[in-house]
Amino acid sequence: MRIYKVGGAVRDRLLGKPVTDIDWVVVGATTEEMLAKGFRPVGADFPVFLHPKSGEEYALARTERKSGRGYGGFTFHASPEVTLEEDLIRRDLTINAMAEDDQQNLTDPYHGQRDLEARLLRHVSPAFAEDPLRVLRVARFAARYAALGFTVAPETLELMRQLSESGELEALTPERSWKEISRALMEDQPQVFVEVLRACGALKVLMPEVDALFGVPQPPAHHPEIDTGTHTLSVLQQAALHKQPLTVRWACLLHDLGKGLTPEEEWPRHIAHEFKGLKLIKAVNERFKVPRDCQELALLVGEYHTHGHRALELKPSTLLELLQSFDIYRRPQRFEEFIAACEMDARGRKGLEERSYPQADYLRGAATAARSVAVQPLLEKGFKGPELGEAIKRERLKALKAYKEAAST
Ligand code: CTP
Repeated sequence: MRIYKVGGAVRDRLLGKPVTDIDWVVVGATTEEMLAKGFRPVGADFPVFLHPKSGEEYALARTERKSGRGYGGFTFHASPEVTLEEDLIRRDLTINAMAEDDQQNLTDPYHGQRDLEARLLRHVSPAFAEDPLRVLRVARFAARYAALGFTVAPETLELMRQLSESGELEALTPERSWKEISRALMEDQPQVFVEVLRACGALKVLMPEVDALFGVPQPPAHHPEIDTGTHTLSVLQQAALHKQPLTVRWACLLHDLGKGLTPEEEWPRHIAHEFKGLKLIKAVNERFKVPRDCQELALLVGEYHTHGHRALELKPSTLLELLQSFDIYRRPQRFEEFIAACEMDARGRKGLEERSYPQADYLRGAATAARSVAVQPLLEKGFKGPELGEAIKRERLKALKAYKEAAST
């Protein structure tokens, strides 16, 4: 039995990046031998085991053959005869298809090291097409390593294009897709993920609502970059630069979907795009079974981001409606995330990246003013039930009027 480190651990060590989890491949062993050594099997069908002490993954060298559509359609062949080279050839990228023994001797039959140096994300073999998730993986790696100068090899992009056209992407489960999307959004250059998906035609399949934003103009006075797709990518880039959490990044990606629905005669204006976009945001959220906090923020940012920008001009009653919609009393964090998404939207415009955003502090101040209304005195005055609700609202409105006046003097 011979054991090798494979995949990301080898790649990241050669790149001088920190290695977090290590995957191992075991050549020349049977399931029985692994079990006898105390390894714990991971799923019934996969020849993958967990090390009894470290908990790291050890996979028997295997060949995979696709026997049907979608992720279920795999047959595995693992046997002691499968060689390391046969195992490596079925992997996605050459830079992920290197192995290392315990002396750090590299096995690199598909020239991963050469591609690391050339900064190329290149598929190993036609077996790439056996798992359509790899289209998303490559886009994610492109986002992660963009700062190092990596690009997708033209022949790999072509294969990704064919896979996207073939209808295979539709067979991906929402869970697998979301895992890639969410990881990609948390990379330093998440906009590259979207760009690569667009370049190979996968964006049109996965998120046609985002794809539709490219080629849609906006008024140059507010949007010097003009194109809505370009703007969306810049907003995402700003979100990453400002280290925003996943909720904010997801909301940034979807905030302007409504602009893709504007009839051309109305361009470059987008009347009521905030409201029109909601059904599209909902559809994307549902398509990938997006976690609730991301879903909610995307919808709220979609509906109210223009309110955020106009915060200083809003009437106290509109301001109060905004604060109520966010349930700022019980969900203070969510309102902060809304403010952050609005700020990223304001900065994700050509030449305006460094602009100040006084709306942010103004909105925070308004939330503080509304929250400062004490309920106890109203209870003491005898208000109950719906009347109490109305009385609280009146007091909050008063507080917001005073806040707005104080802010404008
Ligand atoms: N792999 C693959 N195709 C996939 C998933 C994984 O070929 N759809 C192979 C690659 O060789 C990869 C290895 O399995 O390097 C381990 O996969 P995973 O742990 O998902 O990714 P890493 O490459 O370790 O990358 P990350 O740093 O993103 O975890």
